[in-house]
Amino acid sequence: TAPAARGASAVAHPNIALIKYWGKRDEQLMLPVTDSLSMTLDVFPTTTHVRLDQDAAEDRAALNGEEATGETLRRITAFLDLVRARAGSSVRAVVDTRNTVPTGAGLASSASGFAALATAAAAAYGLRLDAAGLSRLARRGSGSASRSVFSSFALWHAGTGTGEEGDTSSYAEPVPAADSLDAALVIAVVNAGEKAVSSREAMRRTVQTSPLYGPWAASSRDDLADMRSALVRGDLKAVGEIAERNALGMHATMLAARPAVRYLSPATVTVLDRVLKLRQDGVLAYATMDAGPNVKVLCRRADAADVADAVRDAAGTVVTARPGPGARLLAEGV
Ligand code: PMV
Repeated sequence: TAPAARGASAVAHPNIALIKYWGKRDEQLMLPVTDSLSMTLDVFPTTTHVRLDQDAAEDRAALNGEEATGETLRRITAFLDLVRARAGSSVRAVVDTRNTVPTGAGLASSASGFAALATAAAAAYGLRLDAAGLSRLARRGSGSASRSVFSSFALWHAGTGTGEEGDTSSYAEPVPAADSLDAALVIAVVNAGEKAVSSREAMRRTVQTSPLYGPWAASSRDDLADMRSALVRGDLKAVGEIAERNALGMHATMLAARPAVRYLSPATVTVLDRVLKLRQDGVLAYATMDAGPNVKVLCRRADAADVADAVRDAAGTVVTARPGPGARLLAEGV
C-alpha cells in the first residue's frame, strides 16, 4: 500500500435525486432496494480536511468550527474505521468540515458531507481508489453520497445480493444527458430547520410497514428506464414529469407508513401550487422533494428567474442550481 499522507482536503457538492433512493435492503452495508438517479449541484459545497494524528486516542471532528459530539461524531468515527480497516491503519484523525448548506434539512448535506469525507480520508490514509471505489466507500457514510462523487447526472446501482457481493455491486456512475437539456433546479428553502425524523428511521419504517412501498419500488424501476432515455433525448418535459411522479410516489409510501412520516408542510404545498400554475402558464416546471419540506423545481435555465420569482413569497430563501462538479481532492500531504 502507498505511504499514508499526513492529511488531505476535498470538496463535494450535494445532489438531488430525480429517481429517489428510498429504502435499504441492508442497513449495515447501506444497500438500497432500488436504483436511483440524481443531478449533482453547483451550489452548497462541503469542504473537508482530514489530518492524521499519531498521538490521538480518539477521532475528533468539527462542523463549521463546532466540535462534533454524540451521533454525528459516532457516524464519522464509524466511517473512518472503515477507511482505517482498508488502509491497515489505527491512527486517529482530526476532521474539519465546512458546510454551506443547512444540515439535516433534506437538502442533501449528508451527500456532499460524506462524498467530501470519503475523498479526503481515502487520500489521507493512502487508499488508492478509482471513482467507483470512492463511490462505494462514500455509500457507507450516507447512501446518497455515492452519487455526489460524480458530476452532473449519476446513477447509483442498487447492485445484487448481500454481503461482499452486495457491497461490490452497489456504486454510482455517470449517466449521459443531452447538452440541449439545459436544466436548472430552483431550490425553495421553506424551512432550513433540522428534520424531526431522520431519513434512516423514515426509510426503515416505510419498508417495514407501508403497504405502498412494494408498488412504488416496482414502478420506480420503470421510472428509471424512462428517465434515462428522456435524459439522452434532452426531453426536459419528460424528465420533469417522471421526477415529479417518482418523488410524489415516494412521499405517498411514507404517508402510508405506520405511524405516518410526513415531511411536507403547508408552505411545501403552496410551492407545489405555484409549480402547477407555472405549467398552466406554459412554463416547464416540475417539483421534487426529499426528506424535508423544501421543494426543488426542475426547469429550463432560461426560465429559472421566472420560476424563482413565482415561488419566492412562499419560501424563505430561493437558490438556483445548475449541474455541478463531482467530488475533488484539493490538496494532499497537508
Ligand atoms: O441522505 P440519505 O443518504 O440518508 O438519503 C436520503 C434519501 C433522499 O434524499 C430522500 C432521496 C435521495 O435519493 O437522495
